[in-house]
Amino acid sequence: MNIEYRLMSIEDYTQAYDLWIKCGNGLNNKDDSKEGIEKYLKRNPSTSFVAVCDEKVVGVILCGHDGRRGIIQHACVSPDYRRSGIGKKLVDLALEALKAEGINKVLLVAFKKNEGGNKFWESQGFTLREDLNYRNKALSEMIRIDPDYIKE
Ligand SMILES: CC(C)(COP(=O)(O)OP(=O)(O)OC[C@H]1O[C@@H](n2cnc3c(N)ncnc32)[C@H](O)[C@@H]1OP(=O)(O)O)[C@@H](O)C(=O)NCCC(=O)NCCS
Repeated sequence: MNIEYRLMSIEDYTQAYDLWIKCGNGLNNKDDSKEGIEKYLKRNPSTSFVAVCDEKVVGVILCGHDGRRGIIQHACVSPDYRRSGIGKKLVDLALEALKAEGINKVLLVAFKKNEGGNKFWESQGFTLREDLNYRNKALSEMIRIDPDYIKE
């Protein structure tokens, strides 16, 4: 299996979006629209990566920072390509890119029910903060796209 790793560009959007949907990543109609991802990549041009096999995007990590903390979002690997180190390589690339930007800590959120995803993050050294409550507030109306949310 010959996997190429490179920076994500907006030309990867359609394939990346299809993969996020397939992998069950939590999406919304604004941040994850083509315009939303283009804005994100413009602000964070050096920290998001794709894994490509035979010109097909088989893994993605969307990553950026606010000048202080790094944040990882939408990491995924196509089901047929899992458990061969692609996820780990994407994380390593993103972390190296954050370090090169002078960032000292990186965070992420994962659905509690995502057992495999949480085991993966544990294996990559991302510790669980039991002492914090995650809070957020929407500044504009967004429609969530993850299929489980729609079902519940
Ligand atoms: C999580 C995900 C990105 C892992 O990608 P991957 O390429 O299979 O991961 P790797 O092969 O690099 O795995 C590295 C290590 O993580 C751990 N790991 C990965 N997936 C795991 C799983 N489902 N269960 C338990 N441990 C797992 C293992 O320790 C693994 O090492 P090993 O294969 O030598 O045992 C992939 O399963 C995925 O896309 N899942 C759906 C989307 C998702 O959950 N994203 C992250 C949540 S935000």
